Amino acid sequence: MTLSRRALLGAAACSSLLARRLFSATPAKLRIGLLLPYSGTYAALGHNITDAMKLAASEHGGKLGGREVEWVAVDDESDPAKAPANVNKLIAGEKVDILTGPVHSGVAMAMMQIVRQENVLTVVTNAGAQAVTGTLCAPHVFRTSFSNWQTSYPCADVMLKDGRKKAVLMFWNYSFGQESMAAFKEGYAKGGGTIVKEIAVPFPTTEFQANLSEIASLKPDAVFVFFAGAGAAKFVKDYADAGLRDRVALYGSGFLTEGVLAAQGAAAEGIKTTLHYADALDNPANRKFREAFKKATNREADVYAVAGYDTVNVLAQALEKVKGDTGAHSELIAALESARIDSPRGRFRFSKTHNPIQDVYLRQVRGGREAVVGVAMKDAEDPGAGCKMGK
Ligand code: BEZ
Repeated sequence: MTLSRRALLGAAACSSLLARRLFSATPAKLRIGLLLPYSGTYAALGHNITDAMKLAASEHGGKLGGREVEWVAVDDESDPAKAPANVNKLIAGEKVDILTGPVHSGVAMAMMQIVRQENVLTVVTNAGAQAVTGTLCAPHVFRTSFSNWQTSYPCADVMLKDGRKKAVLMFWNYSFGQESMAAFKEGYAKGGGTIVKEIAVPFPTTEFQANLSEIASLKPDAVFVFFAGAGAAKFVKDYADAGLRDRVALYGSGFLTEGVLAAQGAAAEGIKTTLHYADALDNPANRKFREAFKKATNREADVYAVAGYDTVNVLAQALEKVKGDTGAHSELIAALESARIDSPRGRFRFSKTHNPIQDVYLRQVRGGREAVVGVAMKDAEDPGAGCKMGK
């Protein structure tokens, strides 16, 4: 081999080494899967979660743990039957590093079966299904939103303190509605309340007239409901149109009015709900977040957006600790477990079952706004029944 050829080969080897060094200095993008509804009755919820996640990522310069974020979104249509295919598309097809979502508890239940097998780091950004941080809990699954119990159990006491001892329950008949009612009944029975009737409506039906006539004839002291998104907007208006607003007090978990207050207008006035967030919460993190979300989207933030925002902020903290190495599984899980953030909802930390420990507020619609009347339950921690972490 001539010297010049050897020199040429040497130079080529040097430049490919240099290229490899340069390449490895730019870490692979962090692929975050979004399994969320972008159509149907929960579409607005999915969009608010997504936009708030993107807002939080942009506040971190578009990078988490030094890796540029790449979003991969799938419309889950709030359809549990389509969930296995949609989850597989994100995990096996798109090879996401982290899976987030969904909104619908039935979709979450189907998703859990797969993520437990695949061992993919998962952050649930809304669905309150008890099993996520209960019987199906897993070390690599976290939830940044709430459990059904957290948002409904405290409302029983609120209603009893208001002197309403005879209630009708009305809800969308799937896991969230059923578990929400079970939690409410647990608290209501303890305080001496009686359930007069339970009205289960198929999801996502919004034909409420016949049920509202029945409520009028039953004459309870109050009605406790679960509806959310576009269905909640219609329910509250129908309730007022049926002449019930001033005759039978309406209560619910905060999803009844969250994100749909403007659409409900005067029909929502006076409704009391319990939730771990209220737009009027007076803390610096909430003021900053609401202003930034409005600027970015031209929409008002709500509890769904808060969960999306917090998801990225806890991930940012944990990924920083492991320098973006999503393969450092147990270190990443430990970093998430010890994450603490000043959320727009107040202080935030995970329980042993990976559900947020958070205050649940009593809110009342006053003058078209959600006023914070008090704290219905301080540091509410889901019981996490049946969770055997690591089993
Ligand atoms: C759920 O299915 O878990 C859910 C959906 C909408 C709002 C709140 C909870």
